[in-house]
Formats: sequence, structure tokens, C-alpha cells
Amino acid sequence: DLGGGRRKDGLNFTAVTPNTEDRVVVPDGYEQGVVIRWGDPVVPGAPAFDFDRQTAAAQAKQFGFNNDFCGLVPLGHGDRWLMVSNHEYTTESAMFKGWTADTTTREQVEIAWAAHGMSVVLVERDRRSGRLVAKVDRQYNRRITLKSEFRLTGPAAGSALLKTSADPTGTLVLGTMNNCAGGVTPWGTILSGEENFNQYFANAGTVTDATAKQRLSRYGLSGGASQRRWEKFDERFDVAREPNEVNRFGWVVEVDPLDPTSTPVKHTALGRFKHEGANVIIARDGRVVAYMGDDERFDYMYKFVSDEKYKPGNSRYAREHNKKLLDKGTLYVAKFTGDSPAAEVDGTGRLPADGEFDGRGEWIPLASGDRSFVPGFTAEEVYVFTRLAADAVSPTKMDRPEDVEPNPRNRRVYAALTNNTDRGKAGKEGPTEPNPRPNNRHGHVLELEDHRDNTATTFSWRLLLVCGDPNTADTYFGGYDKSQVSSISCPDNVAFDSRGNLWISTDGNALGSNDGLFAVPVEGRYRGRVKQFLTVPRGAETCGPVVEDDFVLVSVQHPGEIDGASADNPLSHWPDGGATQPRPAVVAAWKKDKGRICG
Ligand code: FEO
Ligand code: CA
Ligand code: CA
Ligand code: CA
Repeated sequence: DLGGGRRKDGLNFTAVTPNTEDRVVVPDGYEQGVVIRWGDPVVPGAPAFDFDRQTAAAQAKQFGFNNDFCGLVPLGHGDRWLMVSNHEYTTESAMFKGWTADTTTREQVEIAWAAHGMSVVLVERDRRSGRLVAKVDRQYNRRITLKSEFRLTGPAAGSALLKTSADPTGTLVLGTMNNCAGGVTPWGTILSGEENFNQYFANAGTVTDATAKQRLSRYGLSGGASQRRWEKFDERFDVAREPNEVNRFGWVVEVDPLDPTSTPVKHTALGRFKHEGANVIIARDGRVVAYMGDDERFDYMYKFVSDEKYKPGNSRYAREHNKKLLDKGTLYVAKFTGDSPAAEVDGTGRLPADGEFDGRGEWIPLASGDRSFVPGFTAEEVYVFTRLAADAVSPTKMDRPEDVEPNPRNRRVYAALTNNTDRGKAGKEGPTEPNPRPNNRHGHVLELEDHRDNTATTFSWRLLLVCGDPNTADTYFGGYDKSQVSSISCPDNVAFDSRGNLWISTDGNALGSNDGLFAVPVEGRYRGRVKQFLTVPRGAETCGPVVEDDFVLVSVQHPGEIDGASADNPLSHWPDGGATQPRPAVVAAWKKDKGRICG
């Protein structure tokens, strides 16, 4: 029974059934609607979207492509927020009819640069209908693209490793890209992770210097032309011509939507890797702790602990202080130890004799300010080539850490380990207690508790979920009755409601139905009871979830991204219907009676 019935966790909706429909499906008694789509106006003067006659000038004023993370910063006047969306990547073959890499034009490339980055959009809730409405606001709305100026801050800013011919100071970068997940800080700014930046750079394969080659290769850079051919139009994307430009991507960026003229920053103290995102909690002693995942098979989880303390309040003085907290502190990488004998983690999914995949762990320091803790690496090298420095201290190789986020209600940290089909393959690491499944197609969710405080260097952990079809033996739902849960596959983003329930969005459902959003209590008798709240259209991934008391926001990223699909052969027509092209969008869901989502 996945039905209603009032319960203490407040999750009283009836679970949505897995499906392959080309629409957003919400539970009975709920409604949903698009808040903003690719091409919708963001800043004043933006023209209406015209798929067949798109221009770079128009795109730079419109909502970008493939929105991933979504965050809300309250504007303090009732039901008004600044909504910030990440535009992770472009799919040129879905944006332009007849597109090929070899025939791509300067205008198409410039459209793609403008379709990347972030959008800041004022949204208002219409009390009467329950709908969330996007406004073209003159004061706050903003587009950040690959041409917007960013300042590098923290201990590696100005490093020789970050200098280019366009920027001999090593402190100013044009743009941000592949912004995946993120977080809203307690001081009302947005953190956003630059993830798969490697794909935009050409000609790493021509580099002959052994050290440079090793650094590029550890970040997934090799070969010749890039898939989008940007290097033809701007040589900063050609590693052979501008070797350090690539080092200026792969950071956590911070944007202050409340200060529309502020220059966003890239925080070097948080290290450089394929940042999924970053989420901050204020520790009991007032310092702030950011948790982060490096989304690659067999890569690591990290945290950063600030030196200085958070100043409460919204004064300009407090906010300017807090906006510098992520520049000074200590960067750590996680090492997990299981508490069961290795023989009991046999890859069948059978729980070890102690009844749980669990154990202890350690945060290994990598660098703090100008001081490196990794032999053979300067502090600057730790920050710029964090993956290589981490390799030297043998952290735990995880199954693609996506969102890693502290739950404000219980201060535990929840990590989505989305999948890793290479686990246990010949020549690759096999199952261990924190990543217990070979050929891990469906992923798992790990719960971590720092000892005494979030600043601690030791922790305990256990798996909350081993995802998949609950009817199979190799799944685990927090110990809950598996006949009473929704199936879930490939957890990616996590969020919490005001009661502390965990919400999980998925990317790449390997069970054959559409991706979606799920809610699961983490405390009490319903711990592990996963319920599906919505599904997204064909070919889309669900991301960016925001769970407010009376509405939920999700990003519907890449609708129609299915093998064989293109602008010449669209395989989704969501959200506009008919014969239209699919458009990535933010969607709100709310209760028809306008009651609480989590009642
Ligand atoms: Fe962009 Fe790790 O997903
Ligand atoms: Ca155990
Ligand atoms: Ca993601
Ligand atoms: Ca993903």
C-alpha cells in the first residue's frame, strides 16, 4: 500500500506509478505547471523564443538550455523569491536542425555560449491558483553566460597555473560551464559546481610534456577536436594554444543573486575536480562546512571547513564577511572503512551479519591556506590538481558521488552515489562495504554522521538505500518492508523538506521507465519507505529539486534526449505539445487544495 493515511513524516501523497509518458505526472490531488522554459525571456528586451531563428543576442537574454540545479533565495516580501538555475550543457543537434560538428557556425557556437551558465529570475507565487510565475524583473533578473566575468579567489588565485595570455593576473575568467548541481548558502548566495568541463577543450592529445599530460588525463582530457568545435572560434578552448585555460574551470562558483551587479567568484579553496555541487551547513562552533562530490566512477567525496565563523544577519557587513568564508579553510577527502569482514560483502546484495552496510571513516586533510598536507604537492597544486593530490592519500573510490548534502534537521550528510557499472570489472576495484554492489547500475544513497560536529575529522556512515527494483535481492530500503516502497534507480540530486525527509531526483533510470522525484523519511518507523512523487517526460532527467512546504520545483533537463533524437527527429514534444521541439524547463507542483506538500 503506497497510499495516503496521515503519518508523522507528513508524506501523505499516493505514490506515482512508473511510466513512460511524455508529460509530468504528479499524484492525485496535485497540479503542476511550467515556471520557465528554454528561450523564455529573462531580462528586459528579450525577444520571444523562435526555435528556427534563434540568435546569440536573443539567447543571452533568455533562459538557457538544459537547466539542472534550481535554488530559491527569498526576497523577503511574502511569496517572492529569486530563482537561480544552472544551464549545464548544450545539445546542438537538438537546438539546431541539420547540425553537425564540422559545419557548425560562429553564430551557433555563440548561441551555445549564451545558452550555458546561469539564470537569475524573480518568481512569485499566485495565492489564488497556487501557480509559480516567472517575472521579467528589471532590478534582479540576470543571465550569466560563458562571456560573463568571474573572479578567482582563495589560495590559488593568481597562481602561475591559472594565468593565460588573456589574463596574466590569473584571477579573471570569462564564464562558467557545465554547472551541474549546487546549493543555497545560509547567507543567501548560490553555489554551483562546474562539472564535465573537460569535454569543451580540444587537442589535449597533442601535449607531450609528461606532467602536463598526466594532469590532463586525470581530468578526462585527451584526443583532438572537441565535440562542439568551440576551439575553431576561440583559441582558449584549444589546450595546445592556451594550456592553462582549462585549469580555470572545474571549480565551485558562488553567485550573489541579491546583488545583481556583483562579480561571481570561483573558490579555489574548494579544490578543482568534476564538481557536482556544494552544500553548506553552519557547524555548532559557527564555522561553515561545505560537502562536495566528484562525479566520476571511482572518484571521491570531499569537505571544506572554514577558518572563520559565520556572522548571522542580513546586514551588508555580515553578508560580505560570509561571502569570503569559502576562501580560507581546510580541504579534506573522505576515506571509508567498513565494519564487516570483506567476505561478507560478497556482491550478492546479502546484508553482512551485522545487518548493515556501515562503518567508520576519516576526513584526510589535503591543504589549508598555503599549507599542503600532501607530500610532493604544493598547496597550489593541491587546489588546481585536487584529484591527483587526493590519489596520493588513498581515499575511498566511490560509485560516482553526485549531490552530497547536509540535512539541517539531523545534521547528517546524504550522498547520492548514482551508479558505477565498472565496479568489479576486470582491472577495476571490486565491491567494498560503502560501495557493495558489482556492476552497480542503480546506485545507492549513503548517510554520514560527523562525530560530534560537522567540523570533525572522523565520522560514522551507513547505507540508507541500495537502489533498484525492490523485488530483487540486491536492494535495500533502510530496513523497511520492500513490498511497500517505490522502485528507484540512479539517485542524483537530494533535498530536504522542513520535516527533514529526504527527497531524491533521479537521472538515467535503469529500470526502463521515466526519471522522477522521490521522498523518503530518514527517521522513525518509516525510515527507508521510498515513495515516488512525480515523473518527468520521456528522455528527461529530474534535477534541481526544491521542496518548500506548499510547492515543489524540479528541473526537467534534456526532455527527449533519446538515442536517435535530434531537432530533425524530436522524440518528445514536451512541454508545448503538437509537433514542437522539446524544451528544458523548471516545473512547479503543488496541492490542488493549496495545502502543504508535506502535510
Ligand atoms: Fe551533471 Fe553529475 O551530473
Ligand atoms: Ca556492517
Ligand atoms: Ca547531477
Ligand atoms: Ca547525473
